Amino acid sequence: MRFLFLPFVLFIITAVPLSAGSPGDSDEYAPMKYEGTEITEDMRISRGGQLYDNWWRTSDKTKKPDDDHLLWNRQSTNKRDGYSTWRCKECHGWDYRGSDGVYGTGSHFTGFQGVYKASGMMTLKELDASLRGSTNKDHDFTGHLNDDDISDLALFLKKGIVDLVAFINTDGLSLNGDGESGQILFTKNCMTECHGPDGTAINFGNNEKPEYIGTLAVKNPWEFIHKVRAGQPGTRMSSGIINRWDDRDMRNLLAYAQTLPKKQREKSWFDRVLTAVGLGGKNQESHVPHEHRGFGPKLEQ
Ligand code: HEC
Repeated sequence: MRFLFLPFVLFIITAVPLSAGSPGDSDEYAPMKYEGTEITEDMRISRGGQLYDNWWRTSDKTKKPDDDHLLWNRQSTNKRDGYSTWRCKECHGWDYRGSDGVYGTGSHFTGFQGVYKASGMMTLKELDASLRGSTNKDHDFTGHLNDDDISDLALFLKKGIVDLVAFINTDGLSLNGDGESGQILFTKNCMTECHGPDGTAINFGNNEKPEYIGTLAVKNPWEFIHKVRAGQPGTRMSSGIINRWDDRDMRNLLAYAQTLPKKQREKSWFDRVLTAVGLGGKNQESHVPHEHRGFGPKLEQ
């Protein structure tokens, strides 16, 4: 018991005088607890990354906006509307470089800047404030995100963003990744229970236009890396940030994922027998991404 008691006392001593949720001058936030378990900084950074991807899916305390974001009418090239225009990634990119990066061309082009430079130049406090409209009043998310969401996003921006130019070459391929080492990571973490031996057990697209790990890793390696690191919003997918996978792990995993099939294998006689007795496709259906919202360990007290 004594072992358990000591960290608890230390937690009270260090955490209570700090006001949770507001960034101090030291560029740190006070630690949080949920049902007696400490939420680690890695967990919050990972959650921040999921909010960056799709905040409505990540935070179950917020309403999905129907209208366009206030800054959206500053551009006319990206034709998306509604909630899509509110996702951080839609304006700032999966590579965090906005119009200086992958979204510099194509249907996602807006001309908006990235967050990569801001991540290096702004403090945690300033990043937090920029999501409350400090630098541009139309960039105020407080009507949609609560203090915990905003502080997790700021933590991700400050400490979670990586330079994807060091992971992915100009052809979109893994930079010096070793597929064999990647396969070991894949087999241990992604295959069992979820994506299957060749990454086709979950279809991210639909029947007409299926999308599997192999498809996404080639089509959008920046999105692939973001999601492998932060986790997939609204699901219990593991997070490379929480698992402490380093840059080399990520490049290896990408190299392996890019070799995975883009189609499901042909049905074998056994699959056809399963279908005939009404069991076929069960594996597929049970793994179709669902509409859940919320991050694994909830952050509300
Ligand atoms: C509709 C497009 C759009 C969306 C959505 C959007 N931003 Fe921005 N963001 C901008 C623009 C434009 C600027 C530059 C604002 C300015 O300086 O006038 C900006 C600036 C920033 C900055 C730098 C602050 C500064 O002023 O230099 C950060 C950090 C940032 N955004 C993070 C985020 C995060 C995190 C989200 C998601 C919660 C998000 N943004 C969603 C368009 C967007």
